[in-house]
Amino acid sequence: MGRKKINWQVPKGEKPTELDEKVLYYQEKGYLVPKRSLIKTPEQIEGIRRSGIVNTGVLDLVAKEIRAGMSTLEIDKLVYEYTRDHGAIPATLGYEGFPKSCCTSVNEVVCHGIPNEIEILEEGDIINVDCTTILDGYYADASRMFIIGETTPEKRKLVEVAKECLEIGMQAARPFGFVGDIGNAVEKHAKKNKFSVVRDLCGHGVGLEFHEDPDVEHFGRKGTGMLLVPGMTFTIEPMINMGTHEVFVDEEDDWTVVTEDELPSAQWEHTFVMTNDGLEILTY
Ligand code: MF3
Ligand code: CO
Ligand code: CO
Repeated sequence: MGRKKINWQVPKGEKPTELDEKVLYYQEKGYLVPKRSLIKTPEQIEGIRRSGIVNTGVLDLVAKEIRAGMSTLEIDKLVYEYTRDHGAIPATLGYEGFPKSCCTSVNEVVCHGIPNEIEILEEGDIINVDCTTILDGYYADASRMFIIGETTPEKRKLVEVAKECLEIGMQAARPFGFVGDIGNAVEKHAKKNKFSVVRDLCGHGVGLEFHEDPDVEHFGRKGTGMLLVPGMTFTIEPMINMGTHEVFVDEEDDWTVVTEDELPSAQWEHTFVMTNDGLEILTY
């Protein structure tokens, strides 16, 4: 099992809790465990939940307004205004130089598409809108697919299977299970449907920062990766491709991630908290 990594440390002078004892047992055996700071307090979880309520409001508004003929910049404007009107900040705005309040990823764009004025939604398009909200310092991150009018059966199926991958990944995550259990379940479901899973991008811890540990890969083996401990908050956000899993980053803007074969891609995302009986969604 390789070298033991000491992530979980009980502060000097503190009496180990029942949870400490349990995690230390796994750490002793050589399993990868989270840093203790990744376990959120009930107050922090409440903060992320409140941020999640604004986040859900944003995506509900987009769901109501999105239509053919609209530019992706208009979506961005809705996201910006609703977020600010609710006392929150769009996390992507200015994040590592990203210029907009959400990501809009149409058809063969996998993720990180930049809203702009010239991209007009057309009948049959499938689009992912990904919003991350900061409220009182707490981050909530979610995305949904939208189908513009009627699309092809193949694209519709891709959107549905991607959503099922998120649900199946969620169900595979058990307290004191492993991050690899999630990826394994997602990958199996995608493959069963003859779709592929993007490997270059993953889900992530979230809550006090935009991207925290652990990486949540959407492929892998059961029983591998980091131990899932109650109080951890993270996203699952499978990107499912109709063709190859290979992707590239657009050289013009250094952000837009596109499928290598330019076949469509679909993604859904939620922010979750691990509880004593499985994952709870914080972005409903
Ligand atoms: N919301 C994306 C995620 O799910 C990250 C977008 S970062 C950006 O992790 F800079 F591209 F906006
Ligand atoms: Co995310
Ligand atoms: Co996101």
